[in-house]
Amino acid sequence: MQATSRPLALVVLAAGAGTRMQSDLPKPLHSLGQAPLLAHALASAAPLEPSRIIVVTGHGADAVEAALSDIAPEAVAVRQAEQLGTGHAVLQAADALDGFDGDAVVLYADTPFIRPETLDTMLAARAQHDVVMLGFEAEDPTGYGRMVMDGDTLMRIVEHKDASDAEREIKLCNSGLLCADASILMETLRRVGNDNANGEYYLTDVPELAVAGGHSATAVVCEEAETLGINSRAELARAEERFQQLRRAEALDNGVTMQAPRTVFFALDTFVGRDAEIEPNVVFGPGVTVESGALIRAFSHLEGCHVSAGAIVGPYARLRPGAEIGNNAKIGNFVEVKTADIGEGAKVNHLSYVGDASVGERSNLGAGTVTCNYDGVMKHRTEIGADAFIGSDTMLVAPVKVGARAMTASGSVVTEDVPDGALALGRAKQVNKPGLAVKLMDRLRAIKARKTKG
Ligand code: UD1
Ligand code: MG
Repeated sequence: MQATSRPLALVVLAAGAGTRMQSDLPKPLHSLGQAPLLAHALASAAPLEPSRIIVVTGHGADAVEAALSDIAPEAVAVRQAEQLGTGHAVLQAADALDGFDGDAVVLYADTPFIRPETLDTMLAARAQHDVVMLGFEAEDPTGYGRMVMDGDTLMRIVEHKDASDAEREIKLCNSGLLCADASILMETLRRVGNDNANGEYYLTDVPELAVAGGHSATAVVCEEAETLGINSRAELARAEERFQQLRRAEALDNGVTMQAPRTVFFALDTFVGRDAEIEPNVVFGPGVTVESGALIRAFSHLEGCHVSAGAIVGPYARLRPGAEIGNNAKIGNFVEVKTADIGEGAKVNHLSYVGDASVGERSNLGAGTVTCNYDGVMKHRTEIGADAFIGSDTMLVAPVKVGARAMTASGSVVTEDVPDGALALGRAKQVNKPGLAVKLMDRLRAIKARKTKG
């Protein structure tokens, strides 16, 4: 989808203090749609297939860099020891861009809604101009840098604090995003000074200096909502609302049925296939894939799992990381599945825990089946073959195997492997004492009567 064939370097600014978040967690790591803000910024640019990704870190650098190596292991982090401004921040990428012949795109880590299409438009404009900045018509421009245009040319950007009354009337505001020829950008940044109200090196001085140096600069305009930045918890909460609205609309557009979309919560990487149905009050944590035609019933919580076509999950089910639900399998109410393969057509319908296990095709686990996978120190596996029948309230003490077409009697504590086709009886034999229940009850009543008298 890249508009030009030039190599692209992405520079993400993530060094700021984020003071208004009132948090010990660095701002780029605050969560939106169950993913760090930083992951959203990187996802915006991912379709452009940047050949270099450079993230400028500063406040909370250790934590941000640790998260970065999970999100984008190919990215390089460069540190900005002191936060001397957005221009100074981009300049920290100079070494990492040494010898790079292509375009650079600058994004903020705290601006999660930039659409890849908008970056594409900027790259297309970049084919005509050396420097392209992204602007928007602000409903309330207070605080933003104003874009001074002369026809197509972006003459300069003036920060709110430094602007005259006349300049403050300008509605076209700077989002902060920039796309420029990388060497022109770096060469221009070296000439940026800090003679302004904040005493900072402003990235926004680039257009004016570039134009003065004989280069061309322009602005591309997008919707204000797209440039929404996160500065406080209240803004983060509003962003979450917007994120969920966008994802719900997208799911509906893609052919997912939801009766109450407002009660369904998606994560950044949730994938739900066409003709899948999501009942009300379902929460998706990170890493969930639901295939076509699957049904996720009400009040279920899913994370790090895969639900195959035709499977039914819930109501009130919990799928934890590593749950792999096969085609047409059924996971019912109050069932928890973790690191377990549930085979095609298998059923775990009621009140069960299946962890560190594999369940063969068409097997049926009765109500209250528990894989006892943890001995207090280590985890152990339970393997159940195809067409097995696990009686209600069976405790499968792992490591243990139950063979194909084997059965366990209800209430069994299974500590030894069950061969194919065998029935395991692992419970005390029942003894009936005639009349003893009535006698016992009478005795208890008598004791109680004596106690209440005294
Ligand atoms: C910036 C723009 C302003 C624009 C606004 C849009 C400048 C000088 N101003 O102002 O024109 O309207 O964004 O929201 O660029 N950062 C660093 N290192 C620094 C300073 C900032 O990494 O030394 C990062 C921050 O973490 C943040 C981003 O850069 O992600 C923007 O910085 P911020 O201080 O929010 O800039 P604004 O004053 O909002
Ligand atoms: Mg800001």
